[in-house]
Amino acid sequence: MQLDVNRSDLTVGVIGAGAMGRGIAQVAAAGGMQVLISDSREGAAREARDFVEKLFQRAAEKGSMTKDAAAAATARIRVVSGLTEFKACHLVIEAIVENLEVKRSLFGELEDIVAPDCILASNTSSLSITTLAAKLKAPQRFAGMHFFNPVPLMKLVEVIAGLRTEDRVCEALMAIGRRMTREPVRLTDAPGFLVNQVGRGFTLEASHLVYEGVASFLDVDRVMRDVGGFRMGPFELMELTGLDVTHPASEAIYTQFFHEPRYRPNLIMRSRWDAGVLGRKTKKGFYDYDAEMKPIVAPEAAAPVARPRSVWVSPAEACGHAALTELLKQLGAPLETGARPGDAALILVTPLGEDATTCAVEQGLDPKRTVAVDTLFPMVKRRTIMGTPLTDPVFRDAAHGLLASSGVPVTVCRDSPGFIAQRVVAMIVNIGCSIAQSRTATPADIDKAVTLGLNYPRGPFAFADTLGVHKIYAILTAMQRIYGDPRYRPNIWLTRRARLGVSLVTPEP
Ligand code: NAI
Repeated sequence: MQLDVNRSDLTVGVIGAGAMGRGIAQVAAAGGMQVLISDSREGAAREARDFVEKLFQRAAEKGSMTKDAAAAATARIRVVSGLTEFKACHLVIEAIVENLEVKRSLFGELEDIVAPDCILASNTSSLSITTLAAKLKAPQRFAGMHFFNPVPLMKLVEVIAGLRTEDRVCEALMAIGRRMTREPVRLTDAPGFLVNQVGRGFTLEASHLVYEGVASFLDVDRVMRDVGGFRMGPFELMELTGLDVTHPASEAIYTQFFHEPRYRPNLIMRSRWDAGVLGRKTKKGFYDYDAEMKPIVAPEAAAPVARPRSVWVSPAEACGHAALTELLKQLGAPLETGARPGDAALILVTPLGEDATTCAVEQGLDPKRTVAVDTLFPMVKRRTIMGTPLTDPVFRDAAHGLLASSGVPVTVCRDSPGFIAQRVVAMIVNIGCSIAQSRTATPADIDKAVTLGLNYPRGPFAFADTLGVHKIYAILTAMQRIYGDPRYRPNIWLTRRARLGVSLVTPEP
C-alpha cells in the first residue's frame, strides 16, 4: 500500500541524535511531520531536541519563522528511549555510528517492532544499501536517505534504492524529502552513491598531481579556484572535512569498486592520515594555521620582468592557438607568423591532455624553448604554464613574464599531461559519465546533486558542454596514452557521445 506522504500526522523516527540526526529531526519537524528521536547515549536525544528548539527560536527572532510556527515545530519533536516507541512511525531514519554490524542489528530489531508498511531508511554515507538490507525480512521497504552536513543548510538528499527496494519506497522518500524542503535526487545503490563518487575526481586527482611533483598543494588550490572556478581548492576542502573522513571514504569506494583505477587513492592522503595530520581538526594539515585558525599562506612570488624577443604559437591545437594568439596580441607580444618557429623564438604550445614534452617531441620543436599554456579555461583570473624537463629557465621566465604582464597571476607547474585544471575537471566529467553509464542516476540529477552537494561551479555534464565534449575526450585520451594508465581511459558513455559530436545530455530515443 502506498504511504500518504502528505498526511498531517506523518510520523518520522530518527535514531541517532548526533550532528546528522538532529539536523534530520529539525527539517522533518519544520516540514510539519511528527518526529520521534532517540540515541543510545543517555541525554543525547534531549540535548538534540533542545538544540533544535534554540534554532527554531532564533529563526523566529530573525523573522524567518513565526513564533507560533517555531513553537509548533519544537512541539512536534518528541524524545523517546526504547526502540518499541517507534512502533507508530511511518518512516524511521537511522543516523547512528557508521558500522555495518551495529546498523544491521538495529534494523533487525526494528523491523519486528514497526508496522509492515513502515519505511526503513539509513543515512549511511559509505555502506551499501543492498548489504544493509540483505538480512532483513522485508528488504523491499529499505532504502538510503543520505543527507549532507549541516542538514538545514545543505538542500540535497540522495534517495538510494538497494537491489531489492521497491519503487514506491523511493517515491515516498522523494516526496517526504521535498516536504522537508530538501531537493532529493534518486539513484541506485553504488559505492559512494553519487556525490561522494564525483568528489573523488576532485580530491584524488589533486592528490595524484601533488604526489607526482607537478605542483604544490597550494598551487593546485589556487588554480582550481581561479581557473576552474571552484569555491574552494581540493586541499582546502580536505582540511575542512578532515583526512580521517576523506581518506577512509576513498579507500572504501576504491575497494567496493574492485580496485577500479579511476578511484585509486593516493599515498599523500594515506600517510597524512597515518600520521594524524588531518586538517583543521588537528590544527595542522596541508596548511599550517595561526592562532585564529587562519591558514598561513606564503604570498605569491613576483612575476619575472623578462619578456621574449619573439614568440611563435604552435597551430597544432586550433582552439588553443586562436585563444592564445588573441591574448598575446592584447599583451603586445612580438608574434611570429611563420609555419615554423624562428631560431630564437619562445615556442608556445597549447595541449589538451598532453604534456609539453610530448608536444615538443611529436611536433619536432626545440624542447629547450618550448613552454605549454593551458587554454582550456578562459585565461582571465590566472594562467597556467609548464615547460619540458629541458626548457631553459630564460624561456620559461620570458613566457611567465609575458603572460603576467597584464597583472594576471601565472602558476608555473612541472610538465604534466593535462596541466592541473584540465586533469581534475576531466576526471570529474569522466566519473560523472560512468555514473550515468551505470544508470546510477540521470545526467540531470548528477549535475543537480554535484552543484547542491559539492558546491562545484558546474556539474560534470555542464562542465563538458561548456568546455567542449571533444576537448574533455581529447584530454583523457592523451592522458591515457602518455601515462599508459587505465585510470584515465575515457568512459564509454563519454567516448560514444564525443565521437558522435553531440552533447553529453542528448536524450536517447
Ligand atoms: P555522530 O557521531 O555525530 O552521531 C551519532 C549518534 O548516534 C551519537 O549521538 C551516538 O551516541 C548515537 N549512536 C551510536 N550508536 C547508536 C545505537 N546503536 N543506537 C542509537 N544511537 C546510537 O555521527 P553523525 O556525523 O551524525 O553520523 C551519523 C551517520 O550519518 C553515520 O552513518 C554517518 O556516516 C552518516 N553521515 C554523516 C555525515 C557527516 O558529515 N557527519 C554526512 C552524511 C551521512
